[in-house]
Amino acid sequence: MKVLMVCLGNICRSPLAHGILAEKMKSWEVDSAGTANYHIGKLPDPRSIKVAKDHGLDITYQRARQIEKKDLSYYDLILTMDAENYNNVLKLADHPSKKEKVQLILNFLYPGENRVVPDPYYNGRFEEVYMLLDKATDAILNQYST
Ligand code: 4NP
Repeated sequence: MKVLMVCLGNICRSPLAHGILAEKMKSWEVDSAGTANYHIGKLPDPRSIKVAKDHGLDITYQRARQIEKKDLSYYDLILTMDAENYNNVLKLADHPSKKEKVQLILNFLYPGENRVVPDPYYNGRFEEVYMLLDKATDAILNQYST
């Protein structure tokens, strides 16, 4: 299974989702990307690095990149953090089979509710984001691992 985690900047939420899922499922190919181009090449936000470290996870191998159209062909599942990311990724999908790959990550935890992972960039609530993503990735594994 190849999974791409997507948020806006690829420095706060999706690097955590990426690091958490990659650690839980070492046989899967996991990556992350942002819809925006502001932070290309940067390390995750220091607050994401810290909250990951607090939970025993090192995410400093990651560097931000922007999602590209070819990612929708390559990955099996493209998991977005909020409605804005979801809509922007869908704009890159030129075929229904690609649209089907794009989901809101919290719909694995709260099916059909279209809940979003709140952006912690301004409010600083990184621990809350970590806990949500930890639970959501467990729900993904329950659904896909046999
Ligand atoms: P992320 O958070 O989408 O979870 O990586 C953000 C990072 C940067 C900005 C906004 C959100 N920004 O405006 O630069």
